[in-house]
Amino acid sequence: MQSLNSSSEERRLEVRKLEISDKNKGFIELLQQLTVCDSVSDKDFEDRFQELSALGNDHIICVIEDDRSGKIIATGSVFIEKKFIRNCGKVGHIEDVVVDSSARGMQLGKIIVGFLTNHAREMGCYKVILDCSVENQGFYEKCGFKHKAIQMAKYFN
Ligand SMILES: CC(C)(COP(=O)(O)OP(=O)(O)OC[C@H]1O[C@@H](n2cnc3c(N)ncnc32)[C@H](O)[C@@H]1OP(=O)(O)O)[C@@H](O)C(=O)NCCC(=O)NCCS
Repeated sequence: MQSLNSSSEERRLEVRKLEISDKNKGFIELLQQLTVCDSVSDKDFEDRFQELSALGNDHIICVIEDDRSGKIIATGSVFIEKKFIRNCGKVGHIEDVVVDSSARGMQLGKIIVGFLTNHAREMGCYKVILDCSVENQGFYEKCGFKHKAIQMAKYFN
């Protein structure tokens, strides 16, 4: 867990792992600002939460909660992939980074990406990678990432 102070608005913001009660704090609504994300039933949320929890540190979702509103205002995830190459090396994959539209430009995105990157480093990964749109390239460069290769995708639905 990491604490930070937002000096401009004097509120305490905390980076921590996702908790099951975050569904009632706007977590799904926040993801809807990123991409297609239908509403999720409590049962489906709990099932997926338990499934991910069973992966322990190999898959974490972090969030920042605004202590004044009680809302989740930033999130991101990292998945640790285990490989045979590079002496059975590991690679971190950062996914689903989003900051609430009312809280952008306050360095929260950078803090989320920093938290996930540190996690991948602590897990022994030799690199951490992510896909992003051209519009967000500058943001990830500010987070210390470099443009490498190209992304390929095949969607099944
Ligand atoms: C992209 C996003 C996560 C950035 O979050 P944020 O909290 O507003 O960004 P930060 O305040 O941490 O910005 C960190 C730095 O990157 C810069 N930055 C932010 N977005 C940028 C962009 N799109 N292009 C270039 N630079 C950008 C900021 O100016 C800041 O620079 P500074 O350190 O010199 O002050 C946020 O805009 C967002 O949620 N967008 C919608 C969802 C999305 O596209 N997610 C990314 C999926 S790959």
